[in-house]
Amino acid sequence: MEIKYIEQEKTFMLSNGRISYAFSVEKNRYLMHGYFGRNIQNYRGISRPYFYDRGFCSNPIPEERTFSLDTLPQEYPDMNQGDFRSPAYVIQTEDGRRVTRFYYKNYRIIRGKPILPGLPSVYTEDDEEALTLCVELEDKTMNAGIALYYTIFRDYDAVCRHVEVINAGKQELYLERLMSMSMDFPGTGYDVLTMTGGHMNEKNLNRRPVSSDSVVAESIRGCSSPQATPGIVLMEKEAGEHSGEVWGFQFVYSGDFQAVVQAGQFKSTRVQMGMNPLTFGWNLKSGERFVCPETVLVYSGQGLNGMSHTYHSLYRKRLCRGIYRDKERPVLLNSWEAFEFHVNEEKCRTLAGEAAKLGIELFVVDDGWFKKRVDDKRALGDWTWDREKFPGGISRLAKDIRSMGMDFGIWFEPEMVSPDSDLYRSHPDWIIRSPDYEPVLSRYQYVLDLSNPEVCKYVIHSVAGLLEAADISYVKWDMNRHMTDLGSFYLDGKQQRELSHRYMLGLYYILDTLNRKFPEILFEGCSSGGGRYDAGMLYYMPQTWASDNSDAICRMKIQYGTSLFFPPVTMGAHVSVSPNLQVGRETPLAARFTIAMSGNLGYEMDFRILPEKEKETVKEQIAFYKEVREVIQKGRFYRLINPQTGNVAAWNFVSEDEQTVIYCYAQILSEAVQVNTPVKLKGLRENWNYRFLQDGSCYGGDELMYAGITAEPVKKDFISHVYIFKKEGENRK
Ligand code: DGJ
Repeated sequence: MEIKYIEQEKTFMLSNGRISYAFSVEKNRYLMHGYFGRNIQNYRGISRPYFYDRGFCSNPIPEERTFSLDTLPQEYPDMNQGDFRSPAYVIQTEDGRRVTRFYYKNYRIIRGKPILPGLPSVYTEDDEEALTLCVELEDKTMNAGIALYYTIFRDYDAVCRHVEVINAGKQELYLERLMSMSMDFPGTGYDVLTMTGGHMNEKNLNRRPVSSDSVVAESIRGCSSPQATPGIVLMEKEAGEHSGEVWGFQFVYSGDFQAVVQAGQFKSTRVQMGMNPLTFGWNLKSGERFVCPETVLVYSGQGLNGMSHTYHSLYRKRLCRGIYRDKERPVLLNSWEAFEFHVNEEKCRTLAGEAAKLGIELFVVDDGWFKKRVDDKRALGDWTWDREKFPGGISRLAKDIRSMGMDFGIWFEPEMVSPDSDLYRSHPDWIIRSPDYEPVLSRYQYVLDLSNPEVCKYVIHSVAGLLEAADISYVKWDMNRHMTDLGSFYLDGKQQRELSHRYMLGLYYILDTLNRKFPEILFEGCSSGGGRYDAGMLYYMPQTWASDNSDAICRMKIQYGTSLFFPPVTMGAHVSVSPNLQVGRETPLAARFTIAMSGNLGYEMDFRILPEKEKETVKEQIAFYKEVREVIQKGRFYRLINPQTGNVAAWNFVSEDEQTVIYCYAQILSEAVQVNTPVKLKGLRENWNYRFLQDGSCYGGDELMYAGITAEPVKKDFISHVYIFKKEGENRK
């Protein structure tokens, strides 16, 4: 891994032997993007664009008619010097002008990767793992700087980029638009992949060509949202799951964002990722610095799977933190689908008793445990145990669960408040709203104003109080509405545009404080399912409930899409009842298990009334999962056939030591015309033999990967198979 500056060509080059990133300083002022892709040993810039004199092109250097920023592949473009494409930043001066001139000033190389204060980010454990380049731009008139950071890793084919804006002058500046990164690719012959969806329908993959205008993926909901994901992929036209060049861009942030893919008139493609200018604005006082969250850029020459592998291993090892980063995740039972709000001590104890017999390791009491919470109309914010439902309090139930040999976990929704709550009655000014209008309700609740440090203090205090009072080893942290009425009683008039980002900073502060205070607790993020399933949250909570839709078929599609950026170990996935509560579909227990065991297995059903035969099956499923979970939670995941576009799904896992392979196949609906299409596994060693554990037969890795496996035709809907292969003997060659 190295970062060098080649004086002769004024070029910066970052490389790790597998990928390279290059850009240069043009006319001693402007940063021109050069290259991001497969490793190049000595990038000299033969692919640089030629300059032409073109119509309507402005010339920042008057005597050079051929030089125009509109035609340049830029590294961090501004708005007022003739590049009319999407700018990376817009900064307003005190007199309301938005004209800036940031020019290249200098650079420095830092060992390791600096942390981003108050924000989630990819980290290193020692300085040998990464090198960081910081390039400074300066506007001398304004006396302000922009620092661009680029980190290259020894072990991952990723580059992290973020920016900082520094106000060294006397006047106050206003940041109106701020992207974490911008990059111009040559040509427009790409496809762009985004993720869209909604509640119970998260992470649908949408691939479309880059044409002559822009694709914008964004959220203004106060969170990354189920409707969008702060991650996009640019792909060569011919790239697919396993081949071709793809470039991933993922924002490590959980709030509003904007991702732009813009085709330029001279056939270039600009990609940007950063703060959403509709809900972002920041007053930067004299002497202050603003840090924009980072974007993780991944290059893969092996299609989408190759890209996913980099994100998966980087996030699993250097974004997730705490003891659960490396620890096996427990099999849990969550009370929600069994009891909804009607939990009580006795019901939980008897359900837990059944769960323990089946091998469950963690019992979670979901919503409904706190004072007066009988439905979703009340009590959020009053985080005290309901003594009527739980006469022995939190500690007695936790103790009982422990004595059954399980861990105990609990649900919270700490960012919210119900109008019918003691908290709201005593602090009506603690919610996000404008003083002039009645705030809009959603799920009968308001969002607390986490830009206010007092509110953050209350949240920390109330959650920590409960966590200290009992033996709790897991928290499900929910968030069930989006932001409206963007106004804060705490912030002054000028700061109102800062609210959305200040909310996120407040939330990150709360989570960081709780992480430090309770390092033993496993936190699972949730926002009515995968509504805030993003890289920012994974920094504080190493797993996320992937969707409120627990139907096996819908879940299969959602988890398949989720895996584009996020490793299976981060996905909470539960077996629930049939017919399914969300879609009414009846599916076999086996199919429900195949999907749920492909993430962090859990159950969400009333074991007290489950027929004995099914209980036996559940017991076997859990025992089976415990045997293979290391492969699922730490192994490599390969998408083979996409159920979002067809009737069949297939995927396989390969363990870290490569000796175990788990192959899963599912057919959604039975078809009259059965076709024999073998599925080719991925990631095996071609010259190893693998024993198929279910029947003892043995196959070469080459056959399993190149000829594939044909599924036995079955005339039934919702068929699924799980095959386990183990390496057998030595190399055959
Ligand atoms: C939404 C979550 O996604 C559900 O799993 C459940 O926890 C409910 N909230 C409880 O209100």
